[in-house]
Amino acid sequence: MDLPSHQLTMTVLMTPDTADFSGKVHGGTILKLLDQVMFRQPIQVGELVTFLASINHTGTSSMEVGIKVVAEDIRSQAVRHVNSCFFTMVAVGDDGKPAPVPPRVPGTPDEKRRHAAAEIRRAMRREMEAKFAATRAAA
Ligand SMILES: CC(C)(COP(=O)(O)OP(=O)(O)OC[C@H]1O[C@@H](n2cnc3c(N)ncnc32)[C@H](O)[C@@H]1OP(=O)(O)O)[C@@H](O)C(=O)NCCC(=O)NCCS
Repeated sequence: MDLPSHQLTMTVLMTPDTADFSGKVHGGTILKLLDQVMFRQPIQVGELVTFLASINHTGTSSMEVGIKVVAEDIRSQAVRHVNSCFFTMVAVGDDGKPAPVPPRVPGTPDEKRRHAAAEIRRAMRREMEAKFAATRAAA
C-alpha cells in the first residue's frame, strides 16, 4: 500500500498467546500496541511499579476505571507518580451484549471528587463522539 510519509500501517497477527479466557484477544494486547496512555515521567529499570485502580463511576452497563501508576526507587524509597489513565469498561452478558452493573455510590470526599471528574469525562467523550459522527456524516 502506498502511503504518504506522515502515515504508517502496522499489521500484527493475533496469535493464541494474545487471547483471554473467553478466546478473544485480550484488551491489554491491543493497548500495548496502541500506546494510548500519556506518560508523565519515565520509569527506570529496577524500580517497583504499582498500579492503583478504582472504579470512579458507573453508568448502566459501563464503568470508568481510573488507574494511577506510581514508581518507587527501592533504595531511596522515593515514590513518584508516573502516569494516570482512565478506561471505560463495558460489562457484557453471555450473549456478548451490554449487561447492567451494580451502581457505585461515592462515599469519601476523594471518591466524590473522582466521581464528579468521571462525569465530566463521560460528557466530554459523548460530545466528542457526536462531533466525530457529524463529521463522518458530512464527509
Ligand atoms: C463493548 C460493547 C459490547 C458495547 O456495545 P455497544 O453496542 O456499543 O453498546 P451500547 O451502545 O448499548 O453502549 C453500552 C455502554 O457502553 C458505553 N460505550 C459504548 N461505546 C463507548 C465508547 N466508545 N466510549 C465510551 N463508552 C462507550 C455506552 O455509553 C454505554 O454505557 P452505559 O450503559 O453505562 O450507558 C461492544 O462495543 C463490543 O463488543 N466491543 C468489543 C469488545 C472487545 O472486543 N473486547 C475485547 C478486548 S479488545
